[in-house]
Amino acid sequence: MIAKIQAIRGMNDLLPVDSPVWASLEAKIRAVFGQYGYQEIRFPIVETTGLFVRSLGEVTDIVEKEMYTFVDNLNGESLTLRPEGTASTIRAVLEHNLLYDGPKRLWYAGPMFRHEKPQRGRYRQFHQFGLEALGFPGPDVEAEQIILTARLWRMLGLQNDVALQINTLGNSEARARYRGVLIEYFSAHQDALGEDEKRRLHTNPLRILDSKNPALQRVILVAPIFRDYIDQESMEHFNQLKALLKAAGIKDFVDNPRLVRGLDYYNRTVFEWVTNKLGSQGTICAGGRYDGLIEQLGGKPAPGCGFAMGVERLIELMKECEVQNVMPSVDAYIVHQGDGAMHAAFNAAETARDAGLDIVLHAGGGNFKSQLKRADASAARFAIIVGEDEVQSGKLSLKPLRGQGEQATIDLKQAIESIKQGRTHGSL
Ligand code: HAM
Repeated sequence: MIAKIQAIRGMNDLLPVDSPVWASLEAKIRAVFGQYGYQEIRFPIVETTGLFVRSLGEVTDIVEKEMYTFVDNLNGESLTLRPEGTASTIRAVLEHNLLYDGPKRLWYAGPMFRHEKPQRGRYRQFHQFGLEALGFPGPDVEAEQIILTARLWRMLGLQNDVALQINTLGNSEARARYRGVLIEYFSAHQDALGEDEKRRLHTNPLRILDSKNPALQRVILVAPIFRDYIDQESMEHFNQLKALLKAAGIKDFVDNPRLVRGLDYYNRTVFEWVTNKLGSQGTICAGGRYDGLIEQLGGKPAPGCGFAMGVERLIELMKECEVQNVMPSVDAYIVHQGDGAMHAAFNAAETARDAGLDIVLHAGGGNFKSQLKRADASAARFAIIVGEDEVQSGKLSLKPLRGQGEQATIDLKQAIESIKQGRTHGSL
């Protein structure tokens, strides 16, 4: 027996029934990114492993256990499927010296890969839309990015189902101070620490605050908070951001001093848009500032900040909130019978496409009845019927497939006009 070949666990096919919803969402995201002057950048799906180790941080979940890393047998190089887009964006920007003439606003989209435990909203291949503003030091650009996302939620009808959380991680000196305080604090609670936390105690104690370990929750709840150790400048930056958000009408954000991110490159502002409608995978969009990353990857120091949103989670949220108003549809399905009719049908299809209509031309033969069944199932708005009689008379029949209207015998030009207007004119 031949073994069945299936998709890899956690990696999904996008089927035609869902693709119009994806396409519509993607078009809306692209439009909003464009409205704020962001330009698209595309980079490879595979990069050298070192890029991610150096930028995301060696002691992060992603680098420690989630990367698809393999050796290229042809030259022995260690390669990794990109787990996110920020590192690649910076790599490309430095490689092509894109900041030579000033700051840049960039966006990207595509599949990312993380070897996580697949569950609802968490996949091994998932899709992100992300953007990065490079060379802007102030909170104005962070406010703009958050305002942009709020606009997108309104466009999608999700504004009442998502909430914004923000925090500041301060500068590196303040974080180093706080790190020392946390090591001391968690060391005093050694018995509540699991294996993971013990390992992290001296490498990345901040991540212990993010632990889901039930035994540790009470200890985390009363742990020292970073705000008591933050530097003055970062606090001012954060206060300005909050003022800008409020002035823009984004008032109900949560200032959450315990919000930490799973990647090491952040400093100062971090933020997440979360929903309570998707169970435990409720973060639909997340990001923040990373002023040290460009230098860390070998560039001239320049600030950066950005975010990425998970397309699968957005689609699931739209389903949950029933805000997908996309009907998979073509304008017309052309049925035809007889050799002469087939030629006329081909011509009619091309002429209608020249006029900007989306047309499916029936292929594979069959009688009118079976072809019209296909037309009905195709979700087309109209059927165009071309038979030998119609060819003789220079006319065709236009039959509305959804909603109101009578079948009409008209010429092609009139049919195209009727379809464009979304209705038939009756018999001529
Ligand atoms: P992240 O928080 O790792 O950040 O991912 C951003 C978003 O991608 C998440 O909020 C979630 O919606 C989606 N996502 C992440 N992992 C999965 C998964 N396994 N399955 C489905 N969706 C997922 C970053 O990737 C940063 N590069 C964001 C950024 C850009 N920060 C600054 N600039």
